[in-house]
Amino acid sequence: MELNRRILITGANGALGLCLARYFLERDAACHVFLGVRERRDRAEALVADFSDRAFLCPLEITSAEAWAAAVAQIEAESGGPVNVLINNAGYHDDALLASMTQAQWSGVIEGNLSSVFLGCQSVMKPMMQQRWGRIVNVASLSALHSPAGQTNYAAAKAGVIGLTQSLAKETARLGITVNVICPGHIEGALPANWTEEQIKAVKRDTPMRRFARPEEIAAVVFFLASAEASYMTGAALKLDGALV
Ligand SMILES: NC(=O)c1ccc[n+]([C@@H]2O[C@H](COP(=O)([O-])OP(=O)(O)OC[C@H]3O[C@@H](n4cnc5c(N)ncnc54)[C@H](OP(=O)(O)O)[C@@H]3O)[C@@H](O)[C@H]2O)c1
Repeated sequence: MELNRRILITGANGALGLCLARYFLERDAACHVFLGVRERRDRAEALVADFSDRAFLCPLEITSAEAWAAAVAQIEAESGGPVNVLINNAGYHDDALLASMTQAQWSGVIEGNLSSVFLGCQSVMKPMMQQRWGRIVNVASLSALHSPAGQTNYAAAKAGVIGLTQSLAKETARLGITVNVICPGHIEGALPANWTEEQIKAVKRDTPMRRFARPEEIAAVVFFLASAEASYMTGAALKLDGALV
């Protein structure tokens, strides 16, 4: 099939989201990429300026059903068709030991990493079903599979994304819609701001590859999962961690 991908990437001003957007734009001259942004927009704006005919900013607060409805309507109006590739990349963590975690920390992380993925998938589902084609790639984390202390909220949310992905993949398997999830370990250029040089060295020492992922190495996997060729791959949860686990 000739593929005219209309790709929505959430959190596209962030480290991984921006790399994903650039990766698609540089490798698929026919695709249109919509960069989901919330507050920070500077880097996404610069990329849109470089690819002004095929890249567009898309204001999107991922925890709001109304914002999702507005975003998918904007994309359909601007590109002549509905979103057919959704990359649920936006997310954040707010770590604390469970004993002292506030309810706001718990529910904020669940809303911003899990409920947001539900809203995103639901907002694109009917058009994808009508077209009988679609690709959804969810970004979870290695924390879902190998959960560190201090991340009960984030680990639960990202594990929930894996469960959501695998259940939805079964619902859409006969409709040409694939749904997969990636579980990256640490990504170069996107490490927690409070890590010391010593901590960084220690984690690298524990990683069999002795280094973190380059964002492009994660983007390459997402690019494949979002392709027509990845047609038999659905419900997969891929760990991208340099064999850390
Ligand atoms: N960095 C890592 O090592 C790593 C490892 C495993 C998994 N991940 C996952 O990979 C994804 C991307 O991470 P990253 O390192 O690129 O993070 P990042 O640089 O902090 O970027 C996250 C992006 O998500 C956006 N975002 C967060 N909450 C949002 C909301 N409620 N509505 C709309 N946008 C929202 C942020 O927007 P604002 O700029 O407006 O805040 C930002 O653009 C996340 O899901 C993260 O959990 C990251």
